[in-house]
Amino acid sequence: MLDARGGVPCVIHWGADLGELDDLALAALADAVVPAVPPSSVDVPLRFSLWPGLAEGWSGRPALAGHRQGVPAPALRLVALGDSWVRAKSADDSLELTTELELTPEGVLRIRHRLTNLGDTDFELSGLNMLLPIPEQASELLDFTGLWAHEREPQRGSLRHGVWSRESRHGRPGHDDAFLMMAGEPGFGFRRGRVWATHLAWSGDKQIWAERSALGYGALGAGELLEPGEIRLGPGDSYETPWLIAVFSDSGIDGLSDRLHPWIRSRSPLRLPRPVVLNTWEAVYFDHDFSVLGRLVDAAASVGVERFVLDDGWFTGRRDDKRALGDWYVDSSVWPDGLHPLISRVVSAGMEFGLWVEPEMISPDSDLARAHPSWMLDSSLTWRWQRVLDLNNPDAFAFVRDRLAALLSEYPIAYLKWDHNRDVLTPGATHRQTHALYRLLSELRASFPNVEIESCASGGARIDLGILDLVDRFWTSDTNDPLDRQKIQRWTSVLIPPEYLGGHLGAGAAHVTGRSSALGFRLATALFGSAGIEWNLNAASPSELAVIAEWIAEYKRLRPLLHTGVVVRADAADPANEVHGVVSQDRSSAVFALVALGTPRSALPPPVRFPGLDPNRVYTVRPIGTPPKMVQDAAPAWLSVGSVTLPGRVLSELGLPSPLLAPEQAILLSVDAS
Ligand code: DGJ
Repeated sequence: MLDARGGVPCVIHWGADLGELDDLALAALADAVVPAVPPSSVDVPLRFSLWPGLAEGWSGRPALAGHRQGVPAPALRLVALGDSWVRAKSADDSLELTTELELTPEGVLRIRHRLTNLGDTDFELSGLNMLLPIPEQASELLDFTGLWAHEREPQRGSLRHGVWSRESRHGRPGHDDAFLMMAGEPGFGFRRGRVWATHLAWSGDKQIWAERSALGYGALGAGELLEPGEIRLGPGDSYETPWLIAVFSDSGIDGLSDRLHPWIRSRSPLRLPRPVVLNTWEAVYFDHDFSVLGRLVDAAASVGVERFVLDDGWFTGRRDDKRALGDWYVDSSVWPDGLHPLISRVVSAGMEFGLWVEPEMISPDSDLARAHPSWMLDSSLTWRWQRVLDLNNPDAFAFVRDRLAALLSEYPIAYLKWDHNRDVLTPGATHRQTHALYRLLSELRASFPNVEIESCASGGARIDLGILDLVDRFWTSDTNDPLDRQKIQRWTSVLIPPEYLGGHLGAGAAHVTGRSSALGFRLATALFGSAGIEWNLNAASPSELAVIAEWIAEYKRLRPLLHTGVVVRADAADPANEVHGVVSQDRSSAVFALVALGTPRSALPPPVRFPGLDPNRVYTVRPIGTPPKMVQDAAPAWLSVGSVTLPGRVLSELGLPSPLLAPEQAILLSVDAS
């Protein structure tokens, strides 16, 4: 809610729905919330503006920072106002700022600014941020950190006076991306507490922060992180920020997902059903051999896979990860007839074909780098022995676009796994590089509208709502270890609906951690997402293949629910035992997982509670899928019988006695209304 009656629009309220307010009530509210003037302060009431800054007495982090020949950006005054935008100009008419605001029917607020230099000299921009006020109850913060194969590690703390700022300088959000910054009532959980949250829809460098000021205000803010000199606006030039995505929930973290998921699903709709994928990376790595891969195609088809993806290793000279990025021609020494024989086998087995690429990169040891050394972005450091291709060089951009277009034209490729395996590390390059990436993706999508694209960045280092406008799937993490995956998927799906998040069944001993896990646990974990396989099925036993085939059949039956339903997570009294599930939009059916991550604190763990059901309907709960290993002399009564029928209210409030799962096991439960 904005009060735009003065020279500067003030944010009156961001949070709970205050009901219908007519113009009179709105005006009364706007007047009523004008605060007192404290001692030792500016002599006018300090209000939280849409562009907080020193000019209004706001001494916290400002919205706008920059200068013209050493003179800081002047104060802004409102000049025009539309239904979903406001416009301001500086007193000397040298800058114009337009702010767009949109509150979607799902309750997602989007804000972005556009700054135009109306002066006749350059304006050096150092920051243009979106800020929203948060109330005093929002005193506990939750955001994320992480590392390779351990993305989305939650971290909590209290918000005291000062700034808690998370900054990404990776040229991609990074494995430690703050992702979604939540400020909530102390102890807020999945199902309880008021929470205010922000995300920046941007795939480059950024800052996202929470601040509580001694002035009395709290704020959540975010913007692109700009290096000195990165944005110099010449006369007439404009800079547009990424969208800030802001959501409020009065029912905990799940309430945030309840707004975000329907909005994302309507904005970036996917073609359903999501195909079951087999990706070759952990099956063969760089060891491409048609006879091995051909058998893998047959095995994949026999268990019900629908999309076969050839990962890294197919292009000229790429026998390991030390060379050849940029040489996007099929390696004739490995594939003498191109990819045609493999793709024919895939297609005749009834599957689609997908191909791995890493278009933004270049290996110093590549024909491309030898021919065009200047196409590598400046950075003396290699990372995974590779450099970044300068997509702002029009020739480099055209080369990589045309190479991809040639491959997509020559072969029936349904899907690109688009990787990005290093930080950019070139000061001042990220803004332009990220926009060039968006342009590259847009141009390819325009030319090949039926090709789906997965955003992968050494696993999940580029999962954001900026790139989601241009891709269809995220590779959530390079770890297929189900124990890690449980956590990573749980937290990534707070923002991103599960059907956009790749989750694959890996080998018995996870390649990344070496930890061994039961097949049932791996299957139950990979079920909740865009499911696939990352395992050399040629090495699976007939009985394992039979279980996998059954699992895929079950997944195909469940995916209409899993990929359109409401994601729910119970607040766990014992972190060793977690419950999550998906409830259909009409609440007629649901699938839940009770997951034992470790050893429970007590002999009888807390009951399994089923959030999100209709309290007034009656449901039957029964186990499905591969039975887990249990460590109990006798199962709880309802499970011994095989099913139980009870009202939703009882299942949500009281729950059912928990079976005693062995550590690293999961039981799947279907819940169907009578
Ligand atoms: C990193 C990705 O995350 C992996 O899945 C795989 O595609 C490798 N790159 C290939 O180099």
